[in-house]
Amino acid sequence: LTTLAKQIAGCTACGLCRGRQQAVPGEGIMQPSIMVIGEAPEALDDREGRPFVDRPGLMLDNMLTAIQSSRAHNVYVSNMVKCRPPGNRNPKPIELQACKPFLMRQIELVRPFSILAVGRAAQSLLETQEPLDQLRQVTHSLTVVGQKIPLIVTYHPALLLNHPGEKAAVWQDLQLLKTVSGMS
Ligand code: URA
Repeated sequence: LTTLAKQIAGCTACGLCRGRQQAVPGEGIMQPSIMVIGEAPEALDDREGRPFVDRPGLMLDNMLTAIQSSRAHNVYVSNMVKCRPPGNRNPKPIELQACKPFLMRQIELVRPFSILAVGRAAQSLLETQEPLDQLRQVTHSLTVVGQKIPLIVTYHPALLLNHPGEKAAVWQDLQLLKTVSGMS
């Protein structure tokens, strides 16, 4: 993972490298119960070189606490793309494609028991345009070097900041995640 982080820090495969202060490879526990995959770093994440450190990150940490989990204990947190898109725009397909080998290698090395894909990361990982409300509450899987990893979809924690009414749906998704990750 250290070697991978160095490769990510030096990557110039897409234009996002030009705007970054720091690449944001990911952080957390190896062989975790849960690997959270978000979309892309935001401004503060880019400054600190860590994923999900701002308000969406606090919301994510609260979500994890609700299922007795944390980055310090049993979770690894990463993103589809490792460099911040300017103005926090959505990553472009070409940027997602350029960064995907890093994510796949990271999953291979981290060896999570389950994956929680939040927001648009779900559609990217599952290579589908289906809306999130149809992807939720289903146990999908992602095969990485022959290993089939259960994957659960939920709304992005940033959405909950503006739409707290969706917390009930996220709670349901977290219960399903708990089950597939062997935590309940
Ligand atoms: N910060 C991240 O690292 N990822 C997101 O998807 C949002 C904020």
